[in-house]
Amino acid sequence: MSDQFYLDNFRRYYRRGLKAHRKGELPLARMSLLKAAEMLYKLAASSTGELRTVRKQKARRLLELARSLPVESENNTAPSGGAAARTGDAEETDSKKWIMTALPDVSMDDVAGLDDVKDVIRRRVIYPFRHPEVTEKYRKKSGGGVLLYGPPGNGKTMIARAIAAEVDATFFSVKCSDIISKWVGDAERNLQKLFEAAQEHPRAVIFMDETEAIVAKRGGDSTVMNRVIPEFLSQVDGVQGRHGGLLLLGATNRPWDMDEAALRTGRFGELIYVPMPDLPARRKIIAMNLDGIPLSENFDLDDVAARTEGFTGADLEGLCERAKDAPYEREIVTGEEQCLTQGDVVTTMKNTRLSVREKMLEKYEKFEQQ
Ligand SMILES: Nc1ncnc2c1ncn2[C@@H]1O[C@H](COP(=O)(O)OP(=O)(O)OP(=O)(O)O)[C@@H](O)[C@H]1O
Ligand SMILES: [Mg+2]
Repeated sequence: MSDQFYLDNFRRYYRRGLKAHRKGELPLARMSLLKAAEMLYKLAASSTGELRTVRKQKARRLLELARSLPVESENNTAPSGGAAARTGDAEETDSKKWIMTALPDVSMDDVAGLDDVKDVIRRRVIYPFRHPEVTEKYRKKSGGGVLLYGPPGNGKTMIARAIAAEVDATFFSVKCSDIISKWVGDAERNLQKLFEAAQEHPRAVIFMDETEAIVAKRGGDSTVMNRVIPEFLSQVDGVQGRHGGLLLLGATNRPWDMDEAALRTGRFGELIYVPMPDLPARRKIIAMNLDGIPLSENFDLDDVAARTEGFTGADLEGLCERAKDAPYEREIVTGEEQCLTQGDVVTTMKNTRLSVREKMLEKYEKFEQQ
């Protein structure tokens, strides 16, 4: 069988597996992910170098996940995962729904660049939970609050997902805009429930995405905010100090909108800047997004990466996706095998609107310096 065959099948099973997992159809997820892992092992066997290692690691993680899922469905395997507030029904928001099952679809290795950020995360989030005794011995801080901030599309949410997959703790995940928009009136109660649920676990991470939605500066005439923020702050304070096993992880692309009280030590006391990807990171992101795509012989990845200064990770992902349309259409029209050329990518690049502007970057830099 050809690599292409395995790759196509891997993608098919993988997508099916994740979808089933999301819907709580765990036996189907198990079966599909097992198949996906099998395909990936086959692909790894015929790959070389870094790609081989990466594929093997990913296959192993998939296998572990698949094996952790039930063979047959039980009546009570309610779907878990994602934010809790899909229905907005207060009865539905029981604590189990908050828990995000760690899907190993992203790992720290998939996050390109950001080595400093990853170091801090390991030291601050992963090691304390993995080696509590050593953390205790050296009186290193565990728990508390860490806020990832930076321009949109550069991996903040992705890092949080990778943490969920790697950390040995129960992971609660909420999107703050959901707390506000879907539960107006119930927001405080849901915050309480979330923190209560987290405290029942010896080690837990609460990930709050789009944190600015919930801790936007006070003083405006938003009555919701004026009630929710104090509740949030008091929940956080209640937890800190007496519970070193709880880590509050936030992500925002509007740090300046956050209530200053929330950024104090003991709340989101530690701020980590997630910057735009540098050259090696851009190269890796492009390479990952073109993995398995036939490239023209003189395709120069270094040159392509060098031309993408100012692109965010998400911009690069979009660029690759759109560039592939060209050979795809050529092949459909001509019926002959095609490949992606550097020209395809460069042309697409010229028609790309960057999502982050210079002005905006200056704003982040100014915030970082404060
Ligand atoms: N460092 C990176 N390595 C690999 N892929 C990346 C990286 N940064 C961004 N991406 C790609 O861009 C997508 C968007 O990234 P993500 O959602 O994590 O951005 P974000 O920083 O959370 O943005 P926002 O502030 O808008 O929420 C990711 O799903 C991923 O495909
Ligand atoms: Mg995000």
